[in-house]
Amino acid sequence: MTAASRFEALRKAVNDRLSLAVQTEWGDIPEPLRGAMAYSLNGGGKRLRPVLLLAAHELIAPWDEAAMRFACALEMIHTYSLIHDDLPAMDDDTLRRGRPTCHVVYGEGMAVLAGDGLLSLAMEEMLSVRHPRAFEAAACVARACGVRGMVAGQCLDLSHEGEAPTEELVSAIHRGKTACLLTAPLEAGLILAGADGEQLAAGRLFGLDFGLAFQIQDDLLDLTGDEKLLGKHVGKDEAEGKLTWPALKGPAQARRDMERLTEEACAALEGAFGEKAAFLTGLARESTGRNV
Ligand code: IPE
Ligand code: IPE
Ligand code: MG
Ligand code: MG
Ligand code: MG
Repeated sequence: MTAASRFEALRKAVNDRLSLAVQTEWGDIPEPLRGAMAYSLNGGGKRLRPVLLLAAHELIAPWDEAAMRFACALEMIHTYSLIHDDLPAMDDDTLRRGRPTCHVVYGEGMAVLAGDGLLSLAMEEMLSVRHPRAFEAAACVARACGVRGMVAGQCLDLSHEGEAPTEELVSAIHRGKTACLLTAPLEAGLILAGADGEQLAAGRLFGLDFGLAFQIQDDLLDLTGDEKLLGKHVGKDEAEGKLTWPALKGPAQARRDMERLTEEACAALEGAFGEKAAFLTGLARESTGRNV
C-alpha cells in the first residue's frame, strides 16, 4: 500500500465513523445546535489529527476501537477550534473548508455553542472509552487543547495582533495554537498502544516539530496559496496584523526553517521506530509541499 492510499484509507475510516456517530448518536441534540455541529464536522478537512493518532498507534500495534474513538474526539476538538477561530471576534473569516463558516450559516451564538458542544462531546467520548490507559490519554488531550495549549496559543495570537513579531513570541503562538494539537494525537495514540517512555518522548518531539513546520506552511499558504484549493480566504494574516513566521523571517527563510523542523521531526521518530516511522515521516515531508 502506498503512503497516499494508506492516508486515504485512514481518512475514510475516520470520516465513516464520524458520519455514523452524527447519524446514530446525535439525535437527541437540539436543533439548530446539532445541525451547526454536523455542518462543520462533516464539512471536509484533511483529518490530519485523527490520521496521526491512528498511525501513531500503529507504530506499536494495529489501531482499535479505543484509538478510533480518540481519533474522532481529536477531530471534534480541532473542528471546534476552527469554528471559534473564524468568529468575527477572532479572525473574522467567512470561508472554511470551501464553504461559508459556521457563524455565517448558523449565526454567531450558535457557532459559539457548536464549538462548546464539540469540545464537551469529545471529552465525554474519550472518558467513556473502557481502556486501562484511557484517562492518561484523555488527560494529555485535555492539556493540549486547554489553557496551557491551544487556547493559550490562540490567546497570544489574538492579544499580540498588530505588534512587531519576535522569534520567541511567534514560536510560542505556533507551539500553542497548532503544535499542541498535532502533538496530542502522537501522545494519545502511543499511550493507548502502550509505548515506553523513550517512544513517547520521540512521538512528542515529532508532533512538536511537525506542528511548528505545519503552521509555518499555513502562514506561507496565506501569502501564496490558492483560495479554491485551500477552501479558505488568503491574505488575511497581514490584513489582521497577525504575527507569522514569514513576517518575522521573510518567505524564503520561513520555508528553510519549515524544512529543517520537518527533518528534525523525522529524525526523532526514526531514532525510536526505525523503518516503522516511514508513513509518518513521509506524511510530514509531503506536508512541506502541500497546497491544501
Ligand atoms: C487549519 O488546520 C488550522 C491550523 C492549525 C493551521 P488544517 O490545515 O489541518 O485544517 P483542515 O482540518 O484540513 O480543514
Ligand atoms: C488557527 O490558526 C489555529 C487554530 C484554529 C487553533 P490560523 O488562524 O492561522 O488558522 P487558519 O489559517 O484560520 O486555518
Ligand atoms: Mg487564528
Ligand atoms: Mg484563522
Ligand atoms: Mg492561518
